[in-house]
Amino acid sequence: MPFQLTLRRDGPKCLPPERARPKTRWGVVAGCVISIAGWASPLVTAQSADMAQGRRLFESQCGSCHGPLGNGGKGANLAQPRLRRATDDQALSNIIRRGIRGTEMPGSPLTPSQVSSIAAYVKTLGRVAPEDVPGDRVRGEAVYAGLDCARCHTLGGRGGIIGPGLDDIGVRRSAAHLREALLSPEAFVPSGFLQLRVVPRDGGALTGIRVNEDAFSIQLRDLSGRLHSFWKNELDLIEPQWRRSPMTSYEGRLTAEQTDDLVAFLVTLRGDGSQ
Ligand code: HEC
Ligand code: HEC
Repeated sequence: MPFQLTLRRDGPKCLPPERARPKTRWGVVAGCVISIAGWASPLVTAQSADMAQGRRLFESQCGSCHGPLGNGGKGANLAQPRLRRATDDQALSNIIRRGIRGTEMPGSPLTPSQVSSIAAYVKTLGRVAPEDVPGDRVRGEAVYAGLDCARCHTLGGRGGIIGPGLDDIGVRRSAAHLREALLSPEAFVPSGFLQLRVVPRDGGALTGIRVNEDAFSIQLRDLSGRLHSFWKNELDLIEPQWRRSPMTSYEGRLTAEQTDDLVAFLVTLRGDGSQ
């Protein structure tokens, strides 16, 4: 039972008595006893109760990004038999607890039993039929090549770096999200791509994507890909332009069929070259 394994591996860490502060020692020990009793309860009941809890938690904490059915949105499509990062139970629990560094996937302050019930529920999502995407990926690849996407995006080692890399975009985003990204790029701007306008004291306003910022300095990349670095005290203005993107909508520049084909191409980009 992989479900039970997850539960065990993620069982609350019982501090050895010598490491627990005397005042809390009994509380910690009691916590362990309760959860061990939980493991010992009849599996079927525990599993169905947990599954209901898992679904509820998923819908409230994960659904906004992964979609209520888990088939993706801002977050990855989880309704597939094999997940790219969550390759086994342990990896799945770790991702749910800690999130994925450098991405929008957040960690959550969940209890071990909540983590394992969400993990068990996520695994049932894989049984949903994979997304049916209209369109033709081969034609979509030609659409991609005929447009200016590579000016800003890297794919297969080629292209610009103003926008996010597209090599594994099909793993990270659902077809619906990709379609939205093409038709209304400003509807959702991924973290790490905040557009800023800065006005240096000696004139010459500049717009670009924030690359880095600390208390004293800020770096941005302009649309030609050039990096600019400023001391903040040299700037008269730093204006974050939330929900603005240098990518302009392709609505009206693509026919409905070309849009379908391009989306069909993008969803096959899975970062492993196995399109
Ligand atoms: C703020 C949006 C957001 C929320 C909330 C969120 N996720 Fe994610 N999640 C993402 C994104 C984006 C990725 C893809 C990260 C990447 O690989 O670039 C991801 C990736 C994952 C993965 C890895 C998928 C794979 O292919 O291996 C799992 C599993 C996952 N999320 C589960 C969850 C669960 C369970 C919850 C709720 C507890 C949750 N996520 C909440 C955005 C979110
Ligand atoms: C002028 C630069 C530029 C061009 C040209 C451009 N993009 Fe983008 N693109 C960006 C930037 C910057 C972002 C991130 C901000 C946003 O989401 O709008 C982005 C976001 C995206 C996203 C969403 C990524 C995510 O993680 O959610 C996709 C998909 C995408 N672009 C695909 C394309 C395709 C396909 C083309 C060509 C038809 C294209 N882009 C043309 C700059 C560009």
